Amino acid sequence: MQSQPAPYNRTTVTAALPYTNGPIHIGHLAGVYVPADIYCRYLRLRGEEVLFVCGSDEHGVAIPMKAKKEGVSPLELIDKYHRIIADSFSEFGISFDNYSRTSAEIHHETASEFFEKLYQQGDFIEEEGEQLYDAEAGQFLADRFVTGTCPKCGYEEAYGDQCEQCGSSLNATDLIKPKSVLTGATPVMRRTRHWFLPLDRYEGFLADWILKGHKNDWKPNVYGQCKSWIDDGLKPRAVTRDLDWGIPVPLPGAEGKVLYVWFDAPIGYISSTREWARRENQDWEKWWKAPDTRLLHFIGKDNIVFHCIIFPSMLKAHGQYILPDNVPANEFLNLEGQKLSTSRNWAVWLHEYLLEFPDMQDVLRYVLTANAPETKDNDFTWKDFQARNNNELVAIFGNFINRVTVLTHKYLGGQLPSPGVLSENDRHTLEAIKMYPDTIGNSLQRFRFREASQDLMNLARMGNKYLADEEPWKVVKENPERASTILYVGLQVAAALSVLSEPFLPFTAAKLKKMLRLDPDVAPGWKSLMTDQVLLPQGHRIGNSELLFRKIEDAEIQAQLDKLENTKKENAMSDTSVTPQKDTIVYEDFAKMDLRVGTILEAEKMPKAKKLIVMKVDTGIDTRTIVSGIAEYFSPEDLIGKKVTVLVNLAPRPLRGVDSQGMILLAENPDGSLIFVGPEEDSTPNGAPIT
Ligand code: MF3
Ligand code: ZN
Repeated sequence: MQSQPAPYNRTTVTAALPYTNGPIHIGHLAGVYVPADIYCRYLRLRGEEVLFVCGSDEHGVAIPMKAKKEGVSPLELIDKYHRIIADSFSEFGISFDNYSRTSAEIHHETASEFFEKLYQQGDFIEEEGEQLYDAEAGQFLADRFVTGTCPKCGYEEAYGDQCEQCGSSLNATDLIKPKSVLTGATPVMRRTRHWFLPLDRYEGFLADWILKGHKNDWKPNVYGQCKSWIDDGLKPRAVTRDLDWGIPVPLPGAEGKVLYVWFDAPIGYISSTREWARRENQDWEKWWKAPDTRLLHFIGKDNIVFHCIIFPSMLKAHGQYILPDNVPANEFLNLEGQKLSTSRNWAVWLHEYLLEFPDMQDVLRYVLTANAPETKDNDFTWKDFQARNNNELVAIFGNFINRVTVLTHKYLGGQLPSPGVLSENDRHTLEAIKMYPDTIGNSLQRFRFREASQDLMNLARMGNKYLADEEPWKVVKENPERASTILYVGLQVAAALSVLSEPFLPFTAAKLKKMLRLDPDVAPGWKSLMTDQVLLPQGHRIGNSELLFRKIEDAEIQAQLDKLENTKKENAMSDTSVTPQKDTIVYEDFAKMDLRVGTILEAEKMPKAKKLIVMKVDTGIDTRTIVSGIAEYFSPEDLIGKKVTVLVNLAPRPLRGVDSQGMILLAENPDGSLIFVGPEEDSTPNGAPIT
């Protein structure tokens, strides 16, 4: 396998700017920052020119809301989280060349200039129209300030910019039964003036560029989303808002208006580049304007439309910028089967992880890569975390390195021997090392990070197997010279691992290089492994042997699971949303219902139905069959003998072919779990009416 010659001379890599309304968690890391970092480190090791930029997205509409909740000013809020987020990135070894923020002056300047240029070129439509307005709060409502029913799927909690249920992108005025997030009031319509980017004018360009040009090299999930957007037809999109948080619209007569956050934020990539260039005394423009520069955006799937449709249209309108070459968006990561959520505290926060697993950044990086949500949503479980650590990092990678370095000290005083005659297996192993840079590189170039991480683990596996097959600890007794040769070969595998693991496990790679005394300043690059030159020459002395990884005990995993259980309980308790009262009925309506005390006599699960339980219930009148959707909360054994309340005159209904003759009353807890509503005393006889 040969890697393709690069048709470009440098690569600008961007990673989505995180909102500063909370710290970051494993979902952010897995979806965006770890893959982007692996990719950049890989390019640097190949000796390519790369610039990796990011920064905080500080104009999100959720920021003033969150600030209010925390009782601080928006400025205090963004300062606090900007710091926490930037620290998490550096602690996890995310190797940005620059981490900026959109509140920086250089960004306000860059975004304003960008807007002004488009304005002057006549690229916007200026239009007065009706927008939702909260009269109580005295504020226009858009985006996250308004919720309502999604016109596409009927989900009742859709936001004014997006439905999180079906993923549709919405305008606030599309919502059915809109409600202000600020006051709960029903908004009224009010006229206001805004600037729109007429995306419809870019349809032809987008269809050509994406649908024709990137059918084969963009990920199917990304391409598919773009195609459905373009096929649906694009509409003008407002790029200004009536808000007091954001970058003021730089036009006379636009007081009280700011740039839409999704207009300013992606320009943040450019501002971050300019900030870097100013500091490093470099030219920023070639990274964004030279045709031999390749631009890559690493993002999560909820950002696809902004990076593939809207931002490219802005860049195209501007006229001087290059377009992204690829947008390797990932799907979402779940945690123990549930959607990650900042507001529900359902997350593994990076700053908390480090307190509980100090110095184990690489373990998390590895697990999130090996299990990355690359082609579909994926689940992070603590059990899997433990298994990947114990069975792969410790048992394969760590074990191999430990054996080879300890034995080198034990038999050879830490010095590389001159190899004797090489066996078939030795030569095969040394040859195989040379294949790995391309194997791993080919996976990375196709943005297959999971596969690449397994390629890397396979190299360690090969080393481990080589030692297990050759058994230098046995051979040494009869043939010390042969044992030396085995260690010589094993050490070459270790050296290769120290280079090839660097993108994935940067801290481990540094530790390993130190152990092998490979000078980090003249560290060998990716391609040096593909030559006949060995990395560790004979006579080279290695350093002290240290353990690279440690086993994770069951108790540590249990502690994490307990913590999540607590979160669940806390959420259930603070869930104060009471279902609203239904419409009034008259007494006669109630009197029509015949409610009786009954006892469950038998219960069994309905075959092939996840939720249903079939019961025989003594109602005092008769013994009858009732089917109920409670299997998620009760097992059949728990039900037998229970005193319950039964609605006995409900018309029978067939459920999966079984006639259900009545209904058992249940109360629903905030977390969705159920409990029976029966008589207080078990002595109340079956058939007793409830009046
Ligand atoms: N803050 C956004 C999010 O977390 C991402 C912004 S990416 C940028 O979803 F391109 F706009 F910067
Ligand atoms: Zn929807």
